Amino acid sequence: MQRIARLSAHLNPTNPQMEESAILERVNCRAKGGAPGFKVAILGAAGGIGQPLAMLMKMNPLVSVLHLYDVVNSPGVTADISHMDTGAVVRGFLGQQQLEAALTGMDVVVIPAGVPRKPGMTRDDLFNINAGIVKTLCEGISKCCPNAIVNLISNPVNSTVPIAAEVFKKAGIYDPKRLLGVTMLDVVRANTFVAEVLGLDPREVDVPVVGGHAGVTILPLLSQVKPPCSFTPEETEYLTKRIQDGGTEVVQAKAGAGSATLSMAYAAVKFADACLRGLRGDAGVVECAFVASQVTELPFFATKVRLGRTGAEEVYQLGPLNEYERAGLENAKRELAISIQKGVSFMKK
Ligand SMILES: NC(=O)c1ccc[n+]([C@@H]2O[C@H](COP(=O)([O-])OP(=O)(O)OC[C@H]3O[C@@H](n4cnc5c(N)ncnc54)[C@H](O)[C@@H]3O)[C@@H](O)[C@H]2O)c1
Repeated sequence: MQRIARLSAHLNPTNPQMEESAILERVNCRAKGGAPGFKVAILGAAGGIGQPLAMLMKMNPLVSVLHLYDVVNSPGVTADISHMDTGAVVRGFLGQQQLEAALTGMDVVVIPAGVPRKPGMTRDDLFNINAGIVKTLCEGISKCCPNAIVNLISNPVNSTVPIAAEVFKKAGIYDPKRLLGVTMLDVVRANTFVAEVLGLDPREVDVPVVGGHAGVTILPLLSQVKPPCSFTPEETEYLTKRIQDGGTEVVQAKAGAGSATLSMAYAAVKFADACLRGLRGDAGVVECAFVASQVTELPFFATKVRLGRTGAEEVYQLGPLNEYERAGLENAKRELAISIQKGVSFMKK
């Protein structure tokens, strides 16, 4: 009956009542999705990382619901992404007053909100702005989805992860297994640069990158590369520096237009996908991440972790290091200790 009314609506366009019942409204559509999977929120979804990240997440078959939150432009990004014919249902949320709705019921929350680096800036220079943003967003998580796995991308990761931990402690919901600083881009770069030197396909290469996510705290363990291989001292020096300065390479090339966004979105989705496979119960899901750790004397450290139903269920030891790596580790720890303390103090203020 409705269908006939709709088809014939043009015959009597002046009858407003008729028109009202005849037009098929979007809210009345049956299709609300329903693919089995996990609920994922992206906070900062309209940004340089957020947009390609949202697109790639919409393509992930493990995602059934995708919430896109930002303080600007999220309706446009949501409308755009929602037209992709993949399973995930996409909903947009704009501004602080919609943060709670964006977070309620989420299984995984990915956070690329904040300002990126410009040439001449270190990740630490971003601290003051991004620390406040991360604090607010994590307060929302504490309230609305305290059991979600959090993937924190906002820099400086070495300080924002300790800030998030303090927020969660204050709210009484802190579970170290569920808070993961995303260092995957360092691994992605390391795999690519090492593959270039070895003349291999990057997909065959696995480089553990430990420590943190800034300058000398990024410590690639070239002695543990798979497939097993060896490097000359010059190659080791070249690769270590290039991996540590990979972010700066992009910042300089973009010349004021921001930092890595596309490769970061790729890395973020690779990492989030690993978290989702862990949540699903897959065995043997192992990736590097910056987590609460007892591997060194520092409270947080990036190493390989095993991802499972409850997050980072196992934090792996460093394994045997060569002399070059042992020296690098000492440098990394010195700087990392300061950055971690900076995050903790921000919350104690
Ligand atoms: N972990 C890593 O490996 C890695 C790599 C690259 C960049 N980053 C970091 O990721 C962050 C984002 O980078 P980008 O290039 O996408 O920046 P961007 O400026 O393009 O996007 C950031 C987005 O965050 C949003 N935002 C700001 N305040 C917010 C708030 N309170 N709540 C929600 N959203 C908010 C902005 O509106 C913007 O859309 C930066 O801190 C950057 O340093 C991390």
